[in-house]
This record gives sequence, structure tokens and C-alpha cells, in this order.
Amino acid sequence: MKKILFVASECAPFIKTGGLADVVGSLPKCFDKKEYDVRVIIPKYMCMNQKWKDKMTYLNHFYMDLCWRRQYVGIMEMEYEGVKYYFIDNEYYFAGDKPYSDVRYDLEKFAFFSRAVLSALPVIDFRPDVIHCHDWQTGLIPVYLHDSFAYGDFYRGIKSIMTIHNLKFQGVWDIDTIKDIAGLSDYYFTSDKLKDYDNGNYLKGGIVYADMVTTVSDTYAQEIKTPFYGEGLDGLMRARSNCLRGIVNGIDYKEYDPATDNLIAKNFSVENFRKEKVKNKTALQKELGLEVNPKKMMIGLVSRLTDQKGLDLIACVMDELCQDAVQFVILGTGEERYENMFRHFDWKYGKDVSANIFYSEELSHKIYAACDAFLMPSLFEPCGLSQLMSLRYGTLPIVRETGGLKDTVQPYNEYENTGTGFSFSNYNAHEMMGTVRYAEHVFYDKKRDWNKMIERAMKADFSWKASAEKYQQLYNDLLG
Ligand code: ADP
Ligand code: GLC
Repeated sequence: MKKILFVASECAPFIKTGGLADVVGSLPKCFDKKEYDVRVIIPKYMCMNQKWKDKMTYLNHFYMDLCWRRQYVGIMEMEYEGVKYYFIDNEYYFAGDKPYSDVRYDLEKFAFFSRAVLSALPVIDFRPDVIHCHDWQTGLIPVYLHDSFAYGDFYRGIKSIMTIHNLKFQGVWDIDTIKDIAGLSDYYFTSDKLKDYDNGNYLKGGIVYADMVTTVSDTYAQEIKTPFYGEGLDGLMRARSNCLRGIVNGIDYKEYDPATDNLIAKNFSVENFRKEKVKNKTALQKELGLEVNPKKMMIGLVSRLTDQKGLDLIACVMDELCQDAVQFVILGTGEERYENMFRHFDWKYGKDVSANIFYSEELSHKIYAACDAFLMPSLFEPCGLSQLMSLRYGTLPIVRETGGLKDTVQPYNEYENTGTGFSFSNYNAHEMMGTVRYAEHVFYDKKRDWNKMIERAMKADFSWKASAEKYQQLYNDLLG
């Protein structure tokens, strides 16, 4: 039995701000249980829903020294859908109404978390063969395994994997502060280790010290070796390219299943979507106060509202697009200027634009089910899950050809009648608008082709099966 520990800052359904939580919450369920004992450890945030906190049971606690601090480390546990979860409890670090706050504070929080996770392992009596770390918040774990945890029989030989879900966020601050909060010596602050210009960089440490590095699509694994996508670490990514793999994300096919989803107005499947799917559209039009018209094309957008998602392209041509026979349904939160931009268009084109500036699992499912197309013109996209959810619900993605969007959406070819969506290559608002208008044309004038495309989209397999096998292979390769 190979023992694997996932370490992350979020995990659905307990706490989620984006796709990372979906991955950490769904992938561990998909490993072959006879061969892999995969467990997950995350912080116990005060802002978690009480429903989950009530299900946790207290396992143990101890006090841990980290530089000048002595901190309580509580360990809670829960078995959920066949997977064992641990939660690190500390009411000082994990307070607040969100998992993240300002960077300086988060750096200290996740230094504490990373050290607490390693210190907790003997206490929970679980010695993983591989610690699988996710994103910058866990970047110090491979470093600590090389540093203060390198001695002593318990930790010796534990392998680590660093998975990059988003290279944009690295956990960076000045060296003196990082030394102080992470408890690392001068030795680690040279440019071949954690030093990044005059700063210390957690993710860089994770990438340098992990035994293997992965990211969440093949294309992104290639892109991050170039300056445009490399976020300053492209040189390091090239240097580590022998140890870098791209493994595309999947989604939870049970949770996202239009045939059984009880959050949507009308269930449907690949057999009956021609008649049934549209009932979700009219129900959503009613719910959101849009013009109720089953024939009108509806385009969805469910997203964190940040630069990454290509929203400035939308800002540029939204007025023009709103002259067409289309409706837009937006769900998201994030940067204020984008929140206000969508509120503005909602005010201006009320019967055709609905801006929902909040977080709602339920509304997201309704949008995936109701829309005809889904817009995701990202500047960069390590993988992207929203387009996979859209495909599953027969909602055709319109995407920019980058990262995982390029790997998972096959563009429509009208001559060969292939494809599962629409795509454009340059980061250019008019190129995007041309592609949206091409999709409108196919929707209105070539309904048979459109429906064939829905059929292919719904039949495409983006469950975890193939990718979980690739991770298993990776664990096997590491453990020899
Ligand atoms: P990222 O991780 O970059 O935010 P992904 O496409 O990988 O992008 O994952 C986004 C996830 O977050 C999807 O599950 C999407 O449905 C969900 N999501 C984003 N914003 C909201 C929101 N406002 N309400 C509900 N779900 C949201
Ligand atoms: C990140 C990326 C997104 C990816 C998700 C899960 O948040 O922005 O593209 O799908 O992580 O890996």
C-alpha cells in the first residue's frame, strides 16, 4: 500500500475559493483504494460552515516552536466519501471570514501550517511515502523536508511533489521577514534556492526542493517555460523540465451530472437534451428577471473576476455584443472594477444581462445547465474547470487557446463537423468578438451542427479516471 498525503489550503466541499478546492476535493477519491491510501490535510478555518465543523472529531494536540513563537496545533479528523481528512486547528492563524487575507499575514499563516503538518505526522501515526503539495501555500514543505525534518528516521526518505495550479501566486516577501517567519537560515536565500531578486519566494522553494513538479495541463507545462507565462520563474521551469509533468484536471462526474443534479430546474442527458435542456434556460430567465425566450442564445460566465480571466476583452466589446440577439448571465466576485463593470451592463441592458456579484454553488450549476455557450477568454489558464463543467452540461465553451483551455476544448470545424466549442488564439477583443459572433451564427443558422456539437461535448470524458492513473504512475515512478 502506497501512502500519499495531499496538503493544500482549500478543499471542496469544506472550503473553496476556486478550482484548487475542486481538485483537492475530488481527485483523492479517484485513486485505486487497494493500492493507494490517499489522505488530505488542510487548515481548519473559522469561516468553514458549521455543518462541517460539527462533523470533525478531535484527534490530538501539541505545542510547536517556530522561531520566537510557540503555537497550539490541534488536529481534527473526518472520514468523508471514503477519504480521510485532517484539519489543523489554530484559532489565531485560521480566524477571519475568508481563508486568505493580505500576503504578509498569509505568509506567516502558511509557514505555520506547513511546519504544523510535518510535525503532526508522527502524532497521527501516518508516515506518507509521498507528500503531494499544492500551490505556494505549501511550498515550504519540500524545503522543510530538506532542512529541519531531514534528520530522524521518521521523515527520512519521504518524497515530495509540488503541483502548480497557478504560477501567478508565489508567496513573496522580503528575505528578512521570510527568514523570521519561516525559520530558515541564510543558506536558503541564494538565487538557486528561495531567493528571487531581493525577496524570498515560497513556491520557488517548493519547485527547487520537490522531487517532482507537476502542473494542471500539458500546454501550461510548456507555457511556463517561456517569459510570458513564466511569472519570473521560466528559467527555473526550464532548468527543472526533466522533473516537470503536465497532468490535466478532471471534474467530479457525480457532482456535475446533468442527469441527476438536484440543483438544476430540469435534468437532462445526452439522449434528451434537445427537448429538456432549454427548460433550464427559461427557468433561469424567469429567476433572474431576463426576457423569457427559449430561442434566444444565452452565454454564461462563472469566474473569479480577475485579470487572468480576460475580462478586459469583454469590457472592450460588451456594448457591441449586447446589440446582438444574445443574453449574458454572469456569476462571480473579485476585483471591484470588474464587479462594477458587470453591474453597469446589467443596469444598461437589464432584460438581456444579469450580473450576480456573489458566490453561489447553486446558481453556478444552474448557469452551466441553462446556457447555450460559456465564455472564458483567459489571458492564461493553467487548466480551468468551468469549461469542463460546461462541456458536461452541453454548454459550448468559447475560449482563448491557452493552457488547459487549449487542451480540453476542440474548436468547431464546419467542414468536417468536428469540435466541442469555439476558440481564438490572440489576446484581442475583436478576435474574441468575431468568435462569439461565429458561435451566434452556428447557433441560429446551423442548429443541427450546434446540436451535434452538444452531443460530442457531453460525450467527451473529463472525469478523473485517466488523470488519476497518471498521478498513480507518477507516485510509482518516484517510489521505484
Ligand atoms: P480558478 O481556479 O482559476 O478560479 P477554475 O475554472 O479552475 O478557475 O475553477 C473555478 C471554480 O470556481 C469552478 O468550480 C467554478 O464553478 C467556481 N466558481 C467561481 N466563481 C464562482 C462563484 N461566484 N460562485 C460559485 N462558483 C464559482
Ligand atoms: C487554478 C487555475 C485554474 C485551475 C485550478 C485547479 O486556480 O487558475 O486554471 O483549473 O487552479 O487546478
